[in-house]
Amino acid sequence: MKRVITYGTFDLLHYGHINLLRRARALGDYLIVALSTDEFNRVQKNKVCYFSYEERRMLLESIRYVDLVIPEENWDQKRTDVHLYQVDTFVMGDDWTGKFDFLKEEGVEVVYLPRTPEISTTQIKNDLNNREM
Ligand code: CTP
Repeated sequence: MKRVITYGTFDLLHYGHINLLRRARALGDYLIVALSTDEFNRVQKNKVCYFSYEERRMLLESIRYVDLVIPEENWDQKRTDVHLYQVDTFVMGDDWTGKFDFLKEEGVEVVYLPRTPEISTTQIKNDLNNREM
């Protein structure tokens, strides 16, 4: 069984997220999503989420490509997570290219997938803010 892991906030779930999750799952047999907690988002990533951690988790757990959701609480847990969850492949979108290559030292394959163009949570928020009523 090949196990894949990916990390992210996945707020206001959109088709860019689904594309990422589908391709990540296709790289193996079991996909783990480490979902950034509200506190980690606020304090470390400077992001305020529209949906709470529990709401984002429930949405992710409803997706057929996702087998397990775990909390992402700090930047350093990746090195231990990959052993704890017996991960073979680590996946992120290519906005993170090169940033997690150190995981290769842990014996993990590191893959950066091309982002889906022209969609992001930030884009959705901006578009809604600028929309004329
Ligand atoms: N992602 C993607 N294509 C997009 C948007 C996101 O492949 N169009 C990927 C990211 O590269 C990441 C994962 O989805 O691996 C979760 O990204 P996240 O930061 O939660 O989503 P964004 O929409 O990029 O959110 P934000 O605008 O807040 O950065």
